[in-house]
Amino acid sequence: MNYRHAYHAANHADVLKHAVLARLLVHLAKKDKPFRVIDAHAGLGLYSLNAPEAGKTLEWREGVGRLYDDAGAVLPLQSLAEAMLAPWREVVGQVNGPGPLETYPGSPEVARRMMRRMDKLSLNELHPEDFITLSRRYGQDLRVVLTQVDAGTVLKAQLPPPERRGLILIDPPYEKTDEAQRVGRMLAEGLKRFATGIFVVWYPVTGDGLDEKLGQIIRALDLPLLQVEMRVRSVESGGLAGSGLFILNPPWQLDDELKLLLPALTQRLAQGPGAMGFVR
Ligand SMILES: C[S@@+](CC[C@H](N)C(=O)[O-])C[C@H]1O[C@@H](n2cnc3c(N)ncnc32)[C@H](O)[C@@H]1O
Repeated sequence: MNYRHAYHAANHADVLKHAVLARLLVHLAKKDKPFRVIDAHAGLGLYSLNAPEAGKTLEWREGVGRLYDDAGAVLPLQSLAEAMLAPWREVVGQVNGPGPLETYPGSPEVARRMMRRMDKLSLNELHPEDFITLSRRYGQDLRVVLTQVDAGTVLKAQLPPPERRGLILIDPPYEKTDEAQRVGRMLAEGLKRFATGIFVVWYPVTGDGLDEKLGQIIRALDLPLLQVEMRVRSVESGGLAGSGLFILNPPWQLDDELKLLLPALTQRLAQGPGAMGFVR
């Protein structure tokens, strides 16, 4: 396990992932019934933008750094898109004091801050050091369950959730060559146990064909599906040119919301020719 999210936190892919996650949580919280979020690859939860890891790549400057100025003031998108970003902005605001942005909320923090007292959050992280950090951060919250096992095991062990409503985030580092198949197996196992759950799979766009392979596997499940993708530059330019999310069993009207957000977000985070986004 070489991947450490601290080097990449708050980049363009994180902004897309967390802005969409925040919208999903808005939908889940509409009903007066508890829900559960299972974050199968949780990471650290919170990231310092002044940490050596962040300083080494400076990826955050082309991500969250495009949405706030150097003094920490919001640089708004056009109004309808900005309204769609508001729940994520709220969480970013909550973890930062006045002044320049210093902290970036990962998926556990977004979920924890948007949950209500009755909701539950399962956080799983396999990396031993990151698990310790995560446990220190969230172990006191009685709504949080922490585990340190393989993501596939979590889905098998924790689904269906007692609440019978919820969201499962599958956000692997894609270090292994068979990661698309592993995600496919995880989804099949998960859906067998919790067919009505909202399953969210993050994927990178790097030109290696993983996005298409994953798409084929996921479409073959033949379930209600929404795909959102944002490329900040052409795939030929190399590196992480973009990212996307497959959302199985998406909430009603999420597609319309993301169609309002994506063009403006893509324009703001664009790094060169070939920047484009789609929702389908
Ligand atoms: C992309 S990061 C997660 C970021 C986090 N979901 C967020 O959005 O803030 C992926 C995480 O998965 C962890 N990981 C890698 N392999 C795993 C496995 N088999 N099971 C669970 N976690 C794993 C890594 O240590 C890393 O922290």
